[in-house]
Amino acid sequence: MLQTADRLKKIPPYLFVELRKKINKAKAEGIDVISLAIGDPVEPTPDSIIDELCVRARDPENHRYPTDEEKGMLAFRQEVARWYNTRFGVALDPGSEILGLIGSKEGCHHFILGCMNVGDTVLMTDPGYPAYRSSILMGGGEPYNVPILEKNGYLPVLEDIPTDIAKKARGMFLNYPNNPTGACATREFFNRLVDFAKQFDIIVCYDNPYGEVLFDGQERLSFLMAKGAKEVGVELNSLSKLFNMTGWRIGMAVGNPDVIAAMSKVKENTDSGIFNPIQYAGIHALKHEAKYIDHLLQIYGRRRKMVLEALGRSGIVFEPPKGTFYLWVPVPKGKTAIEFTNFLFDKAAIVVAAGTAYGQYGEGYIRISLTVTDDRLKEAMNRIEKALS
Ligand SMILES: Cc1ncc(COP(=O)(O)O)c(C=O)c1O
Repeated sequence: MLQTADRLKKIPPYLFVELRKKINKAKAEGIDVISLAIGDPVEPTPDSIIDELCVRARDPENHRYPTDEEKGMLAFRQEVARWYNTRFGVALDPGSEILGLIGSKEGCHHFILGCMNVGDTVLMTDPGYPAYRSSILMGGGEPYNVPILEKNGYLPVLEDIPTDIAKKARGMFLNYPNNPTGACATREFFNRLVDFAKQFDIIVCYDNPYGEVLFDGQERLSFLMAKGAKEVGVELNSLSKLFNMTGWRIGMAVGNPDVIAAMSKVKENTDSGIFNPIQYAGIHALKHEAKYIDHLLQIYGRRRKMVLEALGRSGIVFEPPKGTFYLWVPVPKGKTAIEFTNFLFDKAAIVVAAGTAYGQYGEGYIRISLTVTDDRLKEAMNRIEKALS
């Protein structure tokens, strides 16, 4: 067997790869599996965005390396600037403060390569999006888990981070509205985060791909709304979840020009940017399809209510956080997250994500995604109710 890189040995198998294997195996056995495990919207991308892609794909000029290479087309960056101004009241310079990305996940990786040195400690939350750990490890960094607990609204208690760790840390990943808990940040938390980052010289990578997926009157927030945020870090964002474009791979990093320049340099030496027609489609989405987000929120709101009611009938009652299209559901007493996940799979052919897949503090929870059709979700909830009765 050929020897591949040691750096990969530290990286646990990617959660969804394992899940897909499990689902495919059961399907091959003829079982009608319903997966509520993955956050990948089932509805198609809006027609007008697809039309824009098709028109632009017919232009041979767009078959060449993307314009402005690693940074993204200026027109795309200008549109992102307009979006941030309109949606969040945040002013951005398209020249130095915006970088087009092949999805926010790519940004996590390039943040580490561009801003962290081998051996640097990087803070991330537990539970947290698993790709942060992989990016940190691939870049030779040391992840440090900061617990986020229900009693604190799933926000990290920055004062509880040991001072020696905070002093050692050079970077921090944060993500609200949060995958997996659905929790949202507050303006007050952002202020504390900026102070903390300044005090310990930490570069913040704030990942905001669910920034518009909000319920019950929750305020739409960008980290860059906080005073001084641009001095300490960047925000990653994405068109994946807002316009059902997960497969298109388009997102953006915005904020601190030094960080943007570093990430651009990594991109310049890795890929040559996003296919121009996809960038044109992205511009079209941001410019003309903002209303589509309201439509999605209605769908997720309806499904969220359906799941909460069904779980309530089975005695699983909890206060749902106000963001993302995930529900972070407490498991019934006496079962671990894995045991309950296996129970749902064996008894009801329902796949959910065990909370522990996101870190040790995910014990006691499962994550349910609302990104399947209403009919399938209803069927899934019927099966779960039956299994629990
Ligand atoms: C917190 C978080 N960040 C980033 C991503 C990846 O987003 P993108 O499709 O923009 O790469 C996801 C996808 O599930 C996510 O949950």
